[in-house]
Amino acid sequence: MIKIKTQVGIIGAGPAGLTLAHWLKKNGISSVIIELRSREYVEGRVRAGLLEQNTVDIINDMGLGERMQKEGITHDGVYLSFDQERIHVPFAELTGGRQITIYGQQEVVKDLTDAWLEDGQQLYFEAGATKITNFDTDNPQIHFTQNGEEGIISCDFVAACDGFHGIGRKTMPKESYQSYDITYPFSWLGILANVAPSTDELIYAYHENGFALHSLRSETVSRLYLQVDNDENMENWPDERIWEELSVRLGTEGWNLKSGPIFDKSITPMRSHMIDNLQYGRLFLAGDAGHIVPPTGGKGLNLAVADIKHLVDGIVDFYKHNSFGQLDNYTKMALRRIWRAQDFSNYMTQLFHKQEAHGSYSYKLQKAKFNYIKMSKAYKTTIAENYVGLPFETYDF
Ligand code: APR
Ligand code: PHB
Repeated sequence: MIKIKTQVGIIGAGPAGLTLAHWLKKNGISSVIIELRSREYVEGRVRAGLLEQNTVDIINDMGLGERMQKEGITHDGVYLSFDQERIHVPFAELTGGRQITIYGQQEVVKDLTDAWLEDGQQLYFEAGATKITNFDTDNPQIHFTQNGEEGIISCDFVAACDGFHGIGRKTMPKESYQSYDITYPFSWLGILANVAPSTDELIYAYHENGFALHSLRSETVSRLYLQVDNDENMENWPDERIWEELSVRLGTEGWNLKSGPIFDKSITPMRSHMIDNLQYGRLFLAGDAGHIVPPTGGKGLNLAVADIKHLVDGIVDFYKHNSFGQLDNYTKMALRRIWRAQDFSNYMTQLFHKQEAHGSYSYKLQKAKFNYIKMSKAYKTTIAENYVGLPFETYDF
C-alpha cells in the first residue's frame, strides 16, 4: 500500500493538473499528482496549440516559459475566409497589443512535467484514481492503483483535473449540478505535416465543401484541419485527397497551399459540454473535467489554465487566512469565463462549418455575419477580444 500525505491531491497530469501543482508550489503549498497514463502517452498526445496572452503570462510568471519564449510563435491577427474571400482581423491593433502564441499543448505538458520532476516533486504515472472519499469532510482521500498496488492520498483538498473521462465529475453528487451537452453533426480530421506553413497567421475558412483551418507548429511543421462527417473513416482519406481538399477549401485567388509528408492524422468529434457547479465540499473540478468546448477558437487549454487561476486564489486564501471566502466563489468566478468561451467557441463553430445545404437560410446568415465582420470595426473587435482572451479583471463584476 502506497500512503501519501499532502495538502492538495491532484488527479491528472494534463495542463490543468500540472499548472495547479506548480502554482501551488510557488505559494509554498504542497501537492502530489497521479496520472492514469504513461509519461510517453501524455507527452505524445497531439492536441491544439493556441495559447492566449493570459496563459502565456501565467506560464512565464511561474518561471516555466523559457522554451515557449524561444520556440513559440506570436501572432498579431488571424485570417477569416468565406467562399474563398479572405479578410484579416488584427488583434493587436484592436485589443491594445494583445497577441496569441502558437505552441503545441504537448510541449507545454512536457515543459511543466520536466520542471516538476527535476525539482524532485511527486508525480505518479500509470496511477489511476479509482475513488474519491470523504470530500465532505476536512480530510478527503484519493484512492488509486499503480501496477496492481493500491495507494491512498490523504489531503486537505482534492483537485480533479482528470479530463472529460475522469472520475472527478462522476463523483460529484448528481443533485449538485445541471449539465448541458451539444454534439455537433461533424468532426475534425487533423494532420501534422513536415512542410513550411503557407500562411503567416491562422486561416479559418468556410467553403461549400465544409470548414478548413490552417494552423502551424513551427517554420517547418504545419497543422491543418478539415470538417468531415462524424462517421467518416480515415481509410477514405489518403494523403493526396487531404491536401487536395485543404487546397480547395482554404483557397483564394493568387494563393497556393504547399503540401508535404503527413506524419500524424486523427479524427476528433466536436462537442460542447458543461456542468454548472465545479465544487462540492473539498472536491474541485478544473479543465476538461468540468467543461468541453469545440476546438474552433482554441479555447480548451486556456480555459483549463484560467480555472486554475481561480482555484489557486481560493486555496492560497484558505491557507493564509483560514477562510473559505474565495474558495466558495470558485465556481462563480470560473463560470463567467467558461460561459463566455462556450459562446465564442460555439459561435466560431457555427460561423465556419457547413451545417445545412450551401445556399440555405443558415448559410445566408453565416454569410451575413461574415460580411458584417468585413465592414465593421466594432464586430472585428468583438472577435479579436474573445479570440485573444479577455483579461482576468474584466470578469470581476
Ligand atoms: N486517474 C488519474 N488520471 C486520470 C484519470 C484517473 N482516473 N482519468 C483521467 N486522467 C488523466 C488523463 O489521462 C489526462 O492525462 O487526466 C488528464 C487530464 O488531462 P487533459 O485531458 O489534458 O485535461 P486538462 O488538463 O483539463 O486540459 C484541458 O486538454 O482536452 C484538452 O482541449 C483540451 O486543451 C484542453 C486541455
Ligand atoms: C491548433 O493549432 O491545433 C489549433 C489552432 C486553432 C484552433 C484549433 C486548433 O482553433
